[in-house]
Amino acid sequence: MDYLEIVGGSKLKGAITISGAKNAALPIIAATLLSDKPLTLTNLPNVVDIRTLLKLLTMLGGSVEHNETIANINNSDIQSTKAVYEIVSQMRASILVLGPLLTRFGECEVSLPGGCAIGQRPIDLHLKALESMGATIEIKGGYVRAEAKDGLHGAKIIFDKITVGGTENVVMAAAMAHGTTNIINAAKEPEVVQLCEMIASAGIEIEGIGTNELTIEGTCGKPLEFPTIEVIPDRIEAGTYLCAAAITSSSITLNKVNAGHLRASIDKLESMGCSFDIEDESITIHPAITLKPVDLITIEYPGFPTDMQAQFMAVAVIAEGESLIEERLFENRFMHVSELNRLGADIWLKGSTAAVKGVSTLYGADVMATDLRASSALVLAALVAEGTTNVRRIYHLDRGYDDLEGKLSSLGAQITRKKEV
Ligand code: EPZ
Repeated sequence: MDYLEIVGGSKLKGAITISGAKNAALPIIAATLLSDKPLTLTNLPNVVDIRTLLKLLTMLGGSVEHNETIANINNSDIQSTKAVYEIVSQMRASILVLGPLLTRFGECEVSLPGGCAIGQRPIDLHLKALESMGATIEIKGGYVRAEAKDGLHGAKIIFDKITVGGTENVVMAAAMAHGTTNIINAAKEPEVVQLCEMIASAGIEIEGIGTNELTIEGTCGKPLEFPTIEVIPDRIEAGTYLCAAAITSSSITLNKVNAGHLRASIDKLESMGCSFDIEDESITIHPAITLKPVDLITIEYPGFPTDMQAQFMAVAVIAEGESLIEERLFENRFMHVSELNRLGADIWLKGSTAAVKGVSTLYGADVMATDLRASSALVLAALVAEGTTNVRRIYHLDRGYDDLEGKLSSLGAQITRKKEV
């Protein structure tokens, strides 16, 4: 297995280009199953999860021509509606094919996604919503078997909790349903907004895009036709590099980024003493003179994102004072704490809150990545740790960060990918 060898202490400088958003590209790829016409996706991030979902399309009978950032897809000849365990177990977001397969073909089988390091991650809200649209759903042998022989019908759906994936599955299912679907307490993350805009670009009437209430007029079973879709910039990748600049007390510029999607992260970094120059599609961060502690509570968009919690914790580790970080979305998203403490951090957990006492120095050590965002937090801490840090199990990183070590190296970090012997 690969690992990253990082020698701490380098300042960062220069500019990098942010890739397309993994969490926008995944539902967009799933939504191509709603079409029987060829279409092109651009600005795809070059990460494992994208390749995994494109592979699933081909296993279902779709045709995919994919180079690093562009995919030409044609799902006119889908032969199977079974998303098998070996794919879904690699990436839980494969559950996003449930809605489009069911609404277009009237039946499908999708392996239950495993949980993952950060929590149990149930899909009960997805299934309850699809049942209210007329699906019969059975869970057997580790698979969700869904059927709607006469197609799905519109329904009024009130989500008990805001769910990004649940909203996305229902939006896609509603697009070809018979009648009107009204979703209340919908997610409104930028990635959900782009999916809604993609569906609308096929001529579907969607009201409330960007709000917590969506109304969708289905096509009554008629497949959709999409224009070329360019994936939005990845706000979490961008936030991760802003944290890299903050923790190394550096000034860098991010190009091809949407600052409007990063307001919570920028606001919190400003409260820690950083400052920003924001242009149309670029952000330049200037470091704090003294990094101040921060209090964070993770919550749905536009609040502070759970996917930035680990990265901010790494920055808080060397702030001057005590930070409090409360994780409200996932029940086990503090796996990075023990690894950060191995580098010399002073973090204490009490339930869903972490108290982070700032320390002046971190010391390089061998650490282990446990999930995607925890991995990036360990890399950030290693950038300022004295000596060498080896971050292992970086297959987690490769799922969601496009060439992290290449981009950090281009900014001056001493980071090398090595092979375990
Ligand atoms: C998406 O996951 C993202 N993944 C996650 O990013 C992100 O952390 C999460 O949204 C929250 O913003 C993708 O978009 C591929 P949810 P998702 O359904 O859709 C509970 C990353 O690092 N819930 O909004 O799975 C659930 O347990 C990943 O890129 C139910 O109880 O998240 C969680 O506590 C990690 N029942 C909360 O809702 C359900 O049926 C939010 O989950 C569904 C969800």
